[in-house]
Amino acid sequence: MSTPHGTGDPGGEAAQRHLQAAAHRHLWLHFTRMSSYAEGDMPVIVRGSGQYVYDNRGKRYLDGLSGLFVSQIGHGRREVAEAGARQASELAYFPLWSYAHPRAIELAERLGALAPGNLNRVFFTTSGSEAVESAWKLAKQYFKTIGQPARYKVISREIAYHGTSMGALAITGLPGIKEPFEPMAPGGVRVPNTNFYRAPDFLASDLEAFGRWAADEIERAIEREGPESVAAVFLEPVQNSGGCFPPPPGYFARVREICDRHGVLLVSDEVICAFGRLGYYFGSQRYGYQPDIITFAKGVTSGYSPLGGMMVSDALMEPFGAGHADISGFQSPRHAGHPEGPGPSGTATFLHGVTFAGHPVSAAVALANLDVFEKEDLLANVRANEGGFRATLEKLRDLPIVGDVRGDGYFYGIELVKDKATRETFNDEESERLLRGFLSPALFEAGLICRADDRGDPVIQLAPPLTCTQEHFDEMEQILRGVLTEAWAEI
Ligand SMILES: Cc1ncc(COP(=O)(O)O)c(C=O)c1O
Repeated sequence: MSTPHGTGDPGGEAAQRHLQAAAHRHLWLHFTRMSSYAEGDMPVIVRGSGQYVYDNRGKRYLDGLSGLFVSQIGHGRREVAEAGARQASELAYFPLWSYAHPRAIELAERLGALAPGNLNRVFFTTSGSEAVESAWKLAKQYFKTIGQPARYKVISREIAYHGTSMGALAITGLPGIKEPFEPMAPGGVRVPNTNFYRAPDFLASDLEAFGRWAADEIERAIEREGPESVAAVFLEPVQNSGGCFPPPPGYFARVREICDRHGVLLVSDEVICAFGRLGYYFGSQRYGYQPDIITFAKGVTSGYSPLGGMMVSDALMEPFGAGHADISGFQSPRHAGHPEGPGPSGTATFLHGVTFAGHPVSAAVALANLDVFEKEDLLANVRANEGGFRATLEKLRDLPIVGDVRGDGYFYGIELVKDKATRETFNDEESERLLRGFLSPALFEAGLICRADDRGDPVIQLAPPLTCTQEHFDEMEQILRGVLTEAWAEI
């Protein structure tokens, strides 16, 4: 296809037409019904600044979803971009297979200091799915190594999203996105989530009892499957998919007890909930529980470069021959050039890795991102303003279509219903018409990036940059009020 370069129309109408034509011919968007763009333009976002992004026509949008739960510090931060550029000139790439590089070491040390308890070891990946995949693989190999080879199953919650690679997909609790890829990796077991709005009738008026029941369902699943076969429980601090289900009081304390009783690992999947989304570096810190593994991605770099990973407890690392040497002590490099070689007698090697994990540029960017967190005390900003965010969104409850508003920190879901009194939801056809047909395009058109999602019951999800303040909450509320009022008239 010819390009419009040299037409004297850079960024003008011809260039835009070319971009659209090329997108229609060559680009494959993720989780997107491509036919929906058969007749129209794909939205093209070209730049960002602070809490806003701009499309190719210069139109401004409030980024109410931080891209995809990613842009914690907001867009256009020169110092973070420059940290990446500096690192690329110094050392663009070297693997973490047998070798280390300074930025990965510094970042691992810094994350170890921020993480709860004894999660001192960081295994980097490039994405959240890889982090989840790595956590399951580590759990399996760990149990084989310590003489409990039958433990391979993983328990997770209904409607929870944990990623798309085959292992992560087997942990994911969304039948609709798994069906085309069956059969799944064996071992995925589902338990109820903490959607109190849809709690069973006998628990509907007692949040704590509901939390006890939901936690006990995990124990029942472990006992049903046979505790000797269960490796790990994967839970998000606040479950995203389904529209933000915070944990009821006492839920995680009880889950921790259950895991300990049965020798099962607790994996906190914090791909969304870490790095300030809930006002803490890690979501588990907000709810006061100690995971054995934390998986993370997204906000660790605020999206200025891709990175993910898992934080692993000292105890889990033990069979893999961790050196607990004094940080100032010298340890000779082991097995350089032989990454899969055996460790010193009696220790195992985690037989897992990916080329770009802990990429130097991403690690440098993550360090600069954390500098911004500290300099601007973004966690304090979230904690100071989350009450205002909640109160502003709660105003929408006066609309007939708004059934529930739930979440914590800067992470909210608004559930849409057909009948507020009975909590009746929309059928598939209505939901399709409402969400894809009307809400998604209307919200975008009105200048708000957010997510209208019907993987569970229909919800609108919001997770704005952590720099947002009341003016941004008001803007979100006003746009949502207008569009949801119109949506109600459309039904
Ligand atoms: C809780 C959770 N786990 C895992 C993932 C997968 O992350 P990625 O898209 O980076 O592979 C996501 C993505 O949104 C997520 O929300």
